[in-house]
Amino acid sequence: MRLVPPETKPHTSVARLEHHWFPVCFSHELKARRPLARTLAGTPLVVFRTASGEPAALLDRCAHRNVPLAPGKVTGEHLACSYHGWEFDKAGRCQHVPGLCGDLDPERGRRVPAHAARDQDGLVWVYSTADVAPVREPFRFPAPGEGYTVARREVFAPGTMHATLENALDVPHTAFLHGGLFRTAKKRSEIRAVLRRFGDRAEVEYIGEPRPSGLVGRLLSPSGGIVTHFDRFFLPGIAQVEYRIGDENHFLVTSACCPVRDFETRMFAVIQFRLRLPGALVRPLLEPFARRIFAQDVRALAQQSEVIQRFGGEQFESTELDLLGPQIWRLLKAAEAGETAADPDALEYEKEIRLLA
Ligand code: FES
Ligand SMILES: [Fe+2]
Repeated sequence: MRLVPPETKPHTSVARLEHHWFPVCFSHELKARRPLARTLAGTPLVVFRTASGEPAALLDRCAHRNVPLAPGKVTGEHLACSYHGWEFDKAGRCQHVPGLCGDLDPERGRRVPAHAARDQDGLVWVYSTADVAPVREPFRFPAPGEGYTVARREVFAPGTMHATLENALDVPHTAFLHGGLFRTAKKRSEIRAVLRRFGDRAEVEYIGEPRPSGLVGRLLSPSGGIVTHFDRFFLPGIAQVEYRIGDENHFLVTSACCPVRDFETRMFAVIQFRLRLPGALVRPLLEPFARRIFAQDVRALAQQSEVIQRFGGEQFESTELDLLGPQIWRLLKAAEAGETAADPDALEYEKEIRLLA
């Protein structure tokens, strides 16, 4: 007998977004001559850097006998398969077959699907659709200002891209899952939040928020101060959290997601901050908190993924407090259906709520 859980919606992955750019590694990780195996939305890819320094991404399957190409070697502008040495260029065309006398017949396929790749803002980006010219360019990270400390982190989240993005931008869970570290459930004050949705992004601006009373808040700004706080989502998978506390403290975390599989998301985070206390002092103090916070998030995401899979799909109930999750879902679903906003910057929707933070 097969038991069917009640009222489940079919699971619809949000990971298959065609014609979008996703980061697959930090630029410094892609060394000359060292191809990397990466997975993008379930598709195995080999990412490599040619002798001229250009990044390239091919389907990780040799056209000859289905051996992965990632264990191969970069030779000049080509990637050579480790089995019989067929060489492919960055467009996936086979350019050389060792031992074959005479020229290769260019009319014969003998190619592997190729994805456009870019090196930009310290990340290697791969276009999600193979064998096409990109219709847009990757998301641009904000350039770090003078006097800023910059840290980069790669983290694995055991959740769907939607759940991971919502988690990164969700305020209400911070008082519970991370109780005391950031916000606390007891000490709360009424503030306003303005939600804005544009053609390709959504943001929430929190107005009147006191400096978070938890340990991390006190570390960021020991003397308190007025907080300017924005949480932003940009298609296809960027989460950005910005805090300004008083005039001197600015904290900006921009995370770009790579949907590896339905329930596995890689996040490349760039943390930029300028604080009244010197960055070199604050950084080692912040790191254990960041690790602890992330471990708590990972546990919640893993539990969430397990339940979604057990019930065969997501099912959400939300209140006004769930400001960005439904917007992220809506934007991702539209992007998944191939819909693009006529004007990405047009304000489509705005609403203000009051909440206790
Ligand atoms: S399997 Fe790649 S060259 Fe033969
Ligand atoms: Fe969290």
